[in-house]
Amino acid sequence: MPHSTITGIGHYVPKNIVTNQDLTEVMETSDAWIRERTGIEERRYIDRTKETTTTLAVEASLKAIADAGIDKQDIDFIIFATLSPDYYFPGSGVLLQRELGISGTEIAALDIRAQCSGFIYGLSTADQFIKSGMYKKILLVGAEVHSVGLDFSTRGRNVSVIFGDGAGAVIIEPTEDKDVAVLSTKMHSDGTYAEKLSYMYPGAHGGYFLEKYAMEGFGVDYDLENNKYGGVFWNQDMLDKARVFPHMEGQAVFKMAVRKFPEVIMETLTDAGLGIEDLDMLIPHQANLRINQFVANTMGLRDDQVYNNIMRYGNTTAASIPLALSEARDEGKIKKGDLVTLASFGAGFTWAAAVLRW
Ligand code: ACO
Repeated sequence: MPHSTITGIGHYVPKNIVTNQDLTEVMETSDAWIRERTGIEERRYIDRTKETTTTLAVEASLKAIADAGIDKQDIDFIIFATLSPDYYFPGSGVLLQRELGISGTEIAALDIRAQCSGFIYGLSTADQFIKSGMYKKILLVGAEVHSVGLDFSTRGRNVSVIFGDGAGAVIIEPTEDKDVAVLSTKMHSDGTYAEKLSYMYPGAHGGYFLEKYAMEGFGVDYDLENNKYGGVFWNQDMLDKARVFPHMEGQAVFKMAVRKFPEVIMETLTDAGLGIEDLDMLIPHQANLRINQFVANTMGLRDDQVYNNIMRYGNTTAASIPLALSEARDEGKIKKGDLVTLASFGAGFTWAAAVLRW
């Protein structure tokens, strides 16, 4: 049975840098508050006239394809992880296929949600298809545009200062060499916490969620009696009043994240017959620098064993791990033969990890 290996990697971020200081001009916040609690110094926002989640994905994918030295026409499967697709449907996988100019190959394009864990869920999915022999050149992308959907009022500032836009992509191919392979992947979720970190707009059950929002005091004026589960849920007046944004109970997320990261990291290492002492580099999802520092301390890892770039990009959810992996490789922080662990925790809650020999 073949193993899967990453043969190409690339990332792309929009040119527009938004510093913490810039945010103080549009909302009530401060550079000190953001740095102290999250470690973030700046993030990137797209140019809304030209860029979308798919265009960021195209740039990252072209770099990964060139890095792998393959012909894009030979890609036989696309996996696109995002929580911020261009369209509600169709998914972004087919848009990427079209923009890459490979629609003619008629290969399958799969969208993965799983939020901050989307990239590792995608890697695990790709790993199974490579092992089964079904696909041989998989393009896996994590790309996000958050900047267009954030609440810059005081109510939303705990969320809006965190998120940024970006993309990362990898090419995954089969190998017989276990010394350059994905050694283990593990995925988990617990829907008990679905609303702790969520974006309920509008959804197939917009009325139901609006009702919940109304009950939770979000100031939604919604006629529950007349519009519940049927007919037209939304008219312009409702939309104006009910414009909802990402919602996060930050402390609940923080507490669960610092528990689940070490658990799933150890689970994958153990599954690969390895221990924490074998780890060369941990590349965690970039949600909050304080979460990653907490996890590093808990697991007894040195600073140089954990790669962070959240300072420059904020939290780019499904894009954060390939973006960090790509930069870590470019900066020479991971070298051939290193044992690298990727780990994520995010909305759902979902969490996952992957161990690979670079
Ligand atoms: N600027 C200034 N003040 C702010 C801001 C801001 N951007 N946001 C919130 N505040 C204020 C609040 O209004 C509140 O003021 P009050 O005490 O006068 O009422 C105070 O700061 C504390 O607010 P909290 O929301 O309780 O802030 P907290 O200390 O929990 O920090 C944070 C928020 C940074 C999000 C933290 O909860 C956290 O790190 N949580 C982890 C979750 C996370 O990192 N999520 C990232 C995305 S999820 C993921 O990818 C896993």
